[in-house]
Amino acid sequence: TNPEILRNFCIIAHIDHGKSTLADRMLQATGVVTPREMKAQYLDRMDIERERGITIKSQAVRMPWEVDGQAYALNMIDTPGHVDFTYEVSRSLAACEGALLLVDAAQGIEAQTLANLYLAMENELTIIPVLNKIDLPAANPDKYAEELANLIGVEPEDVLRVSGKTGEGVEELLDRIVELIPAPQGKADAPARAMIFDSVYDSYRGVVTYVRVVDGQLSPRQKIKMMSTNAEHDLLEIGVISPEPKPTKGLGVGEVGYLITGVKDVRQSRVGDTVTSSHKSATESLGGYEDPKPMVFSGLFPIDGSDYPLLRDALDKLKLNDAALIYEPETSAALGFGFRCGFLGLLHLEIVRERLEREFNLDLISTAPNVIYDVVDEHGDARRVTNPSEFPDGKIATIREPMVACTIIAPAEFIGAIMELCQSKRGQLGGMDYLSEDRVELRYRLPLAEIVFDFFDQLKSRTKGYASLDWKFDGEEEADLVKVDILLQGEKVDAFSAITHREKAYSYGVMMTGKLRELIPRQQFEVPIQAAIGSRIIARENIRAIRKDVLSKCYGGDISRKRKLLEKQKAGKKRMKMVGRVEVPQEAFIAALSSS
Ligand code: GTP
Repeated sequence: TNPEILRNFCIIAHIDHGKSTLADRMLQATGVVTPREMKAQYLDRMDIERERGITIKSQAVRMPWEVDGQAYALNMIDTPGHVDFTYEVSRSLAACEGALLLVDAAQGIEAQTLANLYLAMENELTIIPVLNKIDLPAANPDKYAEELANLIGVEPEDVLRVSGKTGEGVEELLDRIVELIPAPQGKADAPARAMIFDSVYDSYRGVVTYVRVVDGQLSPRQKIKMMSTNAEHDLLEIGVISPEPKPTKGLGVGEVGYLITGVKDVRQSRVGDTVTSSHKSATESLGGYEDPKPMVFSGLFPIDGSDYPLLRDALDKLKLNDAALIYEPETSAALGFGFRCGFLGLLHLEIVRERLEREFNLDLISTAPNVIYDVVDEHGDARRVTNPSEFPDGKIATIREPMVACTIIAPAEFIGAIMELCQSKRGQLGGMDYLSEDRVELRYRLPLAEIVFDFFDQLKSRTKGYASLDWKFDGEEEADLVKVDILLQGEKVDAFSAITHREKAYSYGVMMTGKLRELIPRQQFEVPIQAAIGSRIIARENIRAIRKDVLSKCYGGDISRKRKLLEKQKAGKKRMKMVGRVEVPQEAFIAALSSS
C-alpha cells in the first residue's frame, strides 16, 4: 500500500470517557462492522475487560474511509487505559502519527488525560482534541472545549464535538483524521524494521504479534529476527485486522498489522522490540525497548494447600499471555506453599488474581503487597528486597525506596483534603495549577509504598469521587524504614511481617495485633500477640485462656452425639494452622490479610 493513503492513530482518554464506545461507532461508520455484528465494545475481547469496563490489551483495526473520492486506510490502535500499563500505552502511541485526545464533555480533563497527552507529545504525535458524550444533559461542551483548547494551545472552535452513543460527529471526525494526521514516512527499500506494540497469546494460533512497519517490507514465509535477542522465527502468517484477522501478501512502510510465527510465549515476542528480516537485517533497532519492571510484589497462596500444583500450572499458563508477570515459589509457615509474584501495579495484581480464581477455579489468599527496597547492611552488602522475609536482621546502613510522581486533578474545594492525605502519606508537593477557575491539578512526589494500598480509595472518598489520579515511577529515595514482625506466643508469623516507615511501625503493630486478637479463638493457655522491631516489642495484646471441653455439654447424652461432636472438632482441626503451640484457623489469617 502507498503510505500516502495511510493514517495511523490512537484514542487517548481518561478511563470511562468513552474510548471503546467511540471506537465501536467508527467501526460501524466505516462499514467494518455491520450493526448486526456489533457487539458492545467489539474491541474488548476478554471477559474481564468487558465486565470491568477496562481495556487491558491493545488491538489494531484497519478501516477504509473515503474523502473526496480518494480511498484511505485508517489504522486505529487501541491503547490500554490504566496507569499500570504505561509502557504498553507508550509503545502503542509510538506506532501512530496522531492521537484523538478524547474528553468527556461532562467531566473535563482528568489525570490520565494529561498523562496520556504528555506521552503523545513525547512521541511527537498530531493531537486532535475531541469532546465526547455531548448528548448528555450534564454536558458542558463550551466550558470544557475552552479547558482543552488552553491545554494544548488551539482555539476552542478547533475542538471537535461527538457522541459515541448517538454517533453524532463521528463522520466529521473521520474526515478530520485524514485531513490532519500526517501520512507515515519510512524508507521502502531499507532493511525491514517493524515495532512490536502488542503481543497476545492465543490458545489455537500461539502468539499473535501486532506490529507497525517503519522501513522496508515484511512478507509471508520469510524468516524474521527479534533485534533484542537475535532469536529467529519463521513467519507463518502476516495480515491486517479488519475487524477479524485477514492474511495479506505483506506489510509495507507505515502499515499496521499482525504476524504469527508459532512461538508459544509472549516473552519471545516482546512489546517494544524491533522485528527485522533474517537475511537482510537492519543494523539499528528502533529504540524505546524496555523490559517490563514489576513494581509491586505479593505472595499468592492456595487456600487449600493441595491446590498448589494447580496454582503452579495456572501461573505457567498465564505467563504465556503476560510478559510482565514474574513469580517464584515461596513457603510461609502460616500459609504453606505458594508463590511470590511481581506485578506492574495493583490493578495488574488484581487482574492476575481474578484470572487465577475465575479461569482456573482457584481460591487464593494474597499477602499485603509491597514494593522493592534497595537495602545496604552495615557490612556494605547491598540487596534488593521484595519480601519482608528477605529484610536483613542486623544493623542497616541505608534503605532506598521507589518514588512516584503523582498528578491529581480535582475540584478546587478539595485542595485541603487532598493535601492532608498526601502529607499523611509522606508526600512532597511539587506544584499546583488551575485548569479552570474551579478545577486544579496538584503534583506530588510520594513513596510508591504509600500509594499501593488504599491511597486511591481514600482519595476518592475524601473528594466525593471527583478526584482523578495518575502516577509514574520517579526514581528512588533514602528512607527510614523498619521491618515490623508479628509474634504469637513468641513465634514469628511470617505472613504478617511488613516493611513500614519508622513513624508508622507503631500504628501497624497496634492495628495488626488488635485484629488478630479479635480473629484468633481462645486457646487452653494464654496467648500473647506482639508486634516487634527486631527484639524490641512495640505493641502487645493478649488472648485469655479457656478450658474448652466439648464433651462437657453431653454428660448423660447418647454416645452417637458425642462421636459427632468429636468428628466435627477433628474436621475443624484440618483447617487449623499451628504457630508454635497456637492453633489458628486459616480464616483468621485470611481475614487479617484481606481487610487491611
Ligand atoms: P476504557 O476503555 O476502559 O478506558 O473506558 P472507555 O473510555 O472506553 O469508556 P467506555 O467506552 O467503556 O464508556 C464508558 C461509559 O460511558 C459507558 O457506560 C458508555 O456507555 C458511556 N458512554 C460512552 N460514550 C458515550 C456518549 O457519547 N454518550 C453517553 N451518554 N454515554 C457514553
